[in-house]
Amino acid sequence: MTVPQAACVESALAEGHRSLMAGAPALAVVEEAIRLLELSGLFNAGIGANHQLDGVRRMDASIMEGDGLRAGAVASIEGIVHPITAARLVMEKTGHVLLVGQSASRFAQYFGLELARAKRAREPRAFHLSPRTGLRRTLALHQAILRTGRLRTRSLGKETVGAVALDLTGTVAAGASTGGVDVMLPGRVGDTPLIGCGVYADNESGAISMTGLGESIIRVAVAKEISDLLASGLSPRVSANRVLRKVVERINGAAGVLVLSPDGRFAIRHSTPHMVAGSIGRDGRPRVQGCFA
Ligand code: GLY
Repeated sequence: MTVPQAACVESALAEGHRSLMAGAPALAVVEEAIRLLELSGLFNAGIGANHQLDGVRRMDASIMEGDGLRAGAVASIEGIVHPITAARLVMEKTGHVLLVGQSASRFAQYFGLELARAKRAREPRAFHLSPRTGLRRTLALHQAILRTGRLRTRSLGKETVGAVALDLTGTVAAGASTGGVDVMLPGRVGDTPLIGCGVYADNESGAISMTGLGESIIRVAVAKEISDLLASGLSPRVSANRVLRKVVERINGAAGVLVLSPDGRFAIRHSTPHMVAGSIGRDGRPRVQGCFA
């Protein structure tokens, strides 16, 4: 965890706490917190998002509120600073849950969302190809990385951002925003925009937001599985530990999670090497760490 990352998470927590205490809805607070992290450039989201192998940033985000189980998401969206706001607009302005690709980008532009400066990967690394490179070579590179067995470690670089909140009315909300993983084919989509995988929120169980290796989170449908354990009466900590262990033991995956129950109990757990995260309770003191053993 770097000092700027810790400071950024702290200020997102402090602002979120102020808004909640002033009566703001959990959904708005989750969106605001994630917007701050997207704008910081310090995480793998918004202006700090990873590039896909063709050097293009395609981002995913979702948001959900636990009263009416309303949800919105975007996948493979390009050219905007705040995918989380695009996700909220999908939820509030359409009858859909998920918009993808160029259509999602046009939708965001229609609502006047801030555009990111068009930029390709600034320092193409050995595994970034030119946007003109054909799929055959791109796929060959991806498969070469797979053969080294290092896709998993290479995929766990900068972190996805996320937030969960409980407001004064007792409603929970969860959201997440990401630039994907470190090494990915053009068009790859992870867990973040998939409701029940990267995010879930239900006033009868709790709010869950995921980070980590999306492929493993999808295969276990982690967020909904944690939600179901919460609904069965297990604590946030026990529910998170149980499902994260399954991700590791069954499919050698890796994930990190924020879990908040409707009665205010909270857990941060991860099987990734680290996870920059924090919490703030009624005392208004943010607590941020880079690792939660
Ligand atoms: N967890 C973010 C991703 O895999 O895309």
